Amino acid sequence: MTYTSLLHGDALVDTQVNARAWNSIAAQKPVGDGPPQKGTVPDDIEWTCWPGHGPGAAFLGDLVGRRVAELGCGTGEHTAYAAARGARLALGVDIAVGRIQQARARFGHLPAAIWTVGDAAEVLARLPRLDACFSIYGALWYSDPARLLPVIRNRLKPGGLLAFTVNAPRPAELPGRRVDNLTLDTGARLPVVHYSYDVDAWRQLLTASGLTTDTVLTVDDPVGRCYRTLVLRARRPVEE
Ligand SMILES: C[S@@+](CC[C@H](N)C(=O)[O-])C[C@H]1O[C@@H](n2cnc3c(N)ncnc32)[C@H](O)[C@@H]1O
Repeated sequence: MTYTSLLHGDALVDTQVNARAWNSIAAQKPVGDGPPQKGTVPDDIEWTCWPGHGPGAAFLGDLVGRRVAELGCGTGEHTAYAAARGARLALGVDIAVGRIQQARARFGHLPAAIWTVGDAAEVLARLPRLDACFSIYGALWYSDPARLLPVIRNRLKPGGLLAFTVNAPRPAELPGRRVDNLTLDTGARLPVVHYSYDVDAWRQLLTASGLTTDTVLTVDDPVGRCYRTLVLRARRPVEE
């Protein structure tokens, strides 16, 4: 089976549905009218939602002097980490304007960090060549990887690195496009689209996009619920 032939959504629908959900999450903690609060840059990169259960910042390789982009940066802490650790350019991209406003308010003081609103595949196509791309439960989880991965591959320099985190499918879940819900503080539930694949499928998707998988880590929920996160790393080959 090739995963490019599975059910795919319309990219415009996916981005509109997901931007609405994440802007609603952002609106729960609006950026005030006062001076923006400077955020604390984290000491490490957490690749999973379970602190300490993941590979750490070294997974992204040496950042000094590099051009990197985070796809689905949310409120910006990982992009800020790259900017503060010597990246020449650290681009935070997010589909939700409210999330980018929060990222700018927290980390706009970091000269190497640039914040951009838009769909990752569309923004990437306009960027210069990158040394690394990364996504932590971000655009590679919430948009069609069969569309996004080839764009990433084309933006990476030969030898460039892609590192990303997604959730693994739940037991018995079929692969492909899923619609789930985000629950707001009010209890309101908003639809959100994501793409769910197991390790074999991710390997196939990466290969089909011209990327070479070099690491696949599976991290289980430390408190034993049936959640599993996949942390993957791939490269654009140096010679093609
Ligand atoms: C679960 S949050 C993760 C945020 C951040 N990476 C983190 O670890 O805190 C997912 C983010 O991906 C963004 N997103 C979803 N689809 C996207 C797309 N097609 N392009 C760019 N960002 C997207 C959402 O707006 C949201 O901020």
